[in-house]
Amino acid sequence: MSKGLEDVVASTSAITFIDGVRGRLLYRGYDINELAELSNYEEVAYLLLHEHLPKPAELSAFAADLSSKRTLPVGVKSMLASLDTNSDAMDVLEMAIAALGIYDYPVLPLNEKAASICSKIATVVAYLHAHSRGQTPIAPRTDLSHASNFLYMMNGKVPDETAERLMNIVFVLHADHEFNASTFTARVVASTLSDAYSSVTAAVAALKGPLHGGANERVVEMVAEIHSPENVEGYIRARLAKKEKIMGFGHRVYKTDDPRAKIMRKCAEQIATTDSELRELAVLEKVQEFMFKEKGLYPNVDFYSGFVLHHLGMPTELFTPVFAVARSPGWLAHIIEQYSDNRIMRPIAQYTGPTDERYVPLTLRAGKITE
Ligand code: ACO
Repeated sequence: MSKGLEDVVASTSAITFIDGVRGRLLYRGYDINELAELSNYEEVAYLLLHEHLPKPAELSAFAADLSSKRTLPVGVKSMLASLDTNSDAMDVLEMAIAALGIYDYPVLPLNEKAASICSKIATVVAYLHAHSRGQTPIAPRTDLSHASNFLYMMNGKVPDETAERLMNIVFVLHADHEFNASTFTARVVASTLSDAYSSVTAAVAALKGPLHGGANERVVEMVAEIHSPENVEGYIRARLAKKEKIMGFGHRVYKTDDPRAKIMRKCAEQIATTDSELRELAVLEKVQEFMFKEKGLYPNVDFYSGFVLHHLGMPTELFTPVFAVARSPGWLAHIIEQYSDNRIMRPIAQYTGPTDERYVPLTLRAGKITE
């Protein structure tokens, strides 16, 4: 028995390779450092979904297909419009992806479904952002890249090249990560031969948890509480003394630096200009240094990503939905891979309960009630 399935090899996969000892991450053989520097959302989504980097004609056809699929079905828009403006964003996202499965017709081939989900999930997040502020959602444009259009829908203006580049880096870094909890969830659901929308809905539900996608929100809250670098040691010491986890640290697979965190840190260093950004960055760097000294732990991708997302105009409560936008090509690639060589996921439990209980009729059980 391996608690939390640690080190359990649950299936084969040709999508993503993580070397947790050397801190390497490869998508279909390509190093994450190269992809983050040289590639973008469309290319990486294509790479994950279609198993090779696209040729120019393949890339333009894929990008055109994604942009043509951005508009939400009317039924989904009216469901979103009917919700309370203060609804939890991840709950709304789960509902919206499930609803896309109802309204996204005619029934599409799997590759088309994948493109549709990857494209529309960004529109859903922008839509729920506007809705939560009581504003009219900004309709997607078809002439912008995925990153640029997303920032346009979120912030109301077409981003400059630097912001578009930064958004692409965030998307590329989060696009896949082997059998993480949400991707594994998606594969379990797909393994029952349930559909892609249901599998992604389940993945979104798994991503919602603070041990997975929700960590960067907590990092931002922590930095605000710490406020300045001289408070770091006292704050972290007090938290560790209470056996609390420090968000944005530790990883099941990486035993060294998470390469994504290193890239995110570099981005943060490049974009920090205002006094408050420089102070927040100094707090983050001090926390990193102190956590290594005290616990030997390295930051994961969530540690610096909140800082970068704030800089791009994303509100804290939408960090996890933005993560879902970025991770959808990975989820879909894994769902497609699961279908291609499927066997239902059905592990067994090491039973620890009783084995010799005797049935007692209800009328004789009064004395057994404990709550
Ligand atoms: N803060 C303090 N101590 C930690 C942390 C942390 N963030 N992470 C791990 N540790 C310690 C644990 O207390 C434990 O120590 P012990 O053996 O003395 O009890 C040891 O390191 C192993 O930790 P586990 O929780 O058993 O590691 P696991 O592999 O189960 O969990 C996880 C990995 C969930 C990422 C964990 O490190 C954690 O909770 N981190 C904080 C949440 C976080 O940042 N999540 C984002 C992950 S990345 C992503 O999803 C994109």
